[in-house]
Amino acid sequence: MNASNSSPLTSGTARALAGTIRVPGDKSLSHRALIFGALAVGTTHVRGLLEGEDVLNTAQALRHLGVAIERRGDAWIVHGVGLLGLREPETVLDLGNSGTGARLLMGVAATHPFTSFFTGDASLRRRPMARVTEPLSRIGARFLSREGARLPLAVIGARDPLPISYRLPVASAQVKSAVLLAGLNAPGETSVIEPAATRDHTERLMRHFGAKVAVAKQGGDTHITLTGQPELIAADLVVPSDPSSASFPLVAALLVPNSKLTIRGVGINPLRAGLFETLIEMGADLKLTNERVEGGEPVADLVVASSALKGVTVPAERAPRMIDEYPILAVAAAFAKGRTAMHGLAELRVKESDRLTAMADGLAKCGAKVAVEGDTLIVEGTGAPPAGGAAIAAKLDHRIAMSFLVLGLAAKAPVAIDDGATIETSFPGFAALMNGIGAAIARA
Ligand code: S3P
Repeated sequence: MNASNSSPLTSGTARALAGTIRVPGDKSLSHRALIFGALAVGTTHVRGLLEGEDVLNTAQALRHLGVAIERRGDAWIVHGVGLLGLREPETVLDLGNSGTGARLLMGVAATHPFTSFFTGDASLRRRPMARVTEPLSRIGARFLSREGARLPLAVIGARDPLPISYRLPVASAQVKSAVLLAGLNAPGETSVIEPAATRDHTERLMRHFGAKVAVAKQGGDTHITLTGQPELIAADLVVPSDPSSASFPLVAALLVPNSKLTIRGVGINPLRAGLFETLIEMGADLKLTNERVEGGEPVADLVVASSALKGVTVPAERAPRMIDEYPILAVAAAFAKGRTAMHGLAELRVKESDRLTAMADGLAKCGAKVAVEGDTLIVEGTGAPPAGGAAIAAKLDHRIAMSFLVLGLAAKAPVAIDDGATIETSFPGFAALMNGIGAAIARA
């Protein structure tokens, strides 16, 4: 963590938010760009990479695996070693706060013939890893771990990996990606069957780097089939801005009266765009303009203005397409008129924190009417701003921290969070960027 940024923060009532901004690069794509660049033969230049702690930890882990990675000007240069070119790391791979970094690299390590050790921060060490060790064991990897396969753990990579066909028991792009990454070194076809489609950045990037990946819909399922042992070839790419990061200034502009904001170059991959859909249903004045394709991903400029929102029902089927956006959606719901019911949120309990509990407790502290019924979060808004005036524990969770800072900008009284340092994992410069458009976020 950046020590200079580790103090508590407060956010107070903002004047109108206005301007044109860009948010940092997509976190999911940034991890994957470095990993595929490392596994390809040749030199990959990545522009727009997120320079947040999560991604920097993945870069550092790849260096420990024998990959040279450097920043030159605005590009990150990955000197790929080719499949099976990684070497046994001499030290523990510490993925910090990042489930994506840990799970994807465990997939990679699972089919390299060496032993590696993985750990992370207090939040990551609490998160379930059995969801990846289970399928990776079927491929032939072995693991030494704590109860629940939690980190720290050791991965003993398979010398003779087997291709598997694996039906995902949870809608998780991280698990899908771990299996596909492991499948790169297995002969024949590795397939993943998804009952609910999750973000497809791994599939897109595998193709971008030259692998053969077939995607077929069968009934409600998506079958993703990778042909193993491809030759991955270095391929430059540009990472679009992260739609999950964009959601914070976007919702802030909806909630703070008289705001008008443009957020440029935001990824609008349909498997990430559930929040935009939901906000428009709630009555948000949100337009996706200048749609184009950049680096193989659809992007747009988002134009947003303050809006009176109404409560909606968000079906469980939408959850995989907006899984990281429920904390900020719950904040928007607290300002909306009427009941917002968000269904199918079991996975929120195993994110950087238990987000279902964190949001319910935090919103209640801020004076909102909120309930959790099973895996459903219900927020009853009056159409008026909630009281605010609370101190919230960020729980090593960047999205909890940013969500409550956004709430504070439009609530009746300021909101404090105990730890702004966690924001560095995904959105370096968040407070400065927000203050640049009129927010009032300060050290407490
Ligand atoms: C991610 C997938 C999601 C998401 C995470 C990033 C990815 O996790 O919550 O922030 O890059 O694949 P799950 O796939 O486990 O739901």
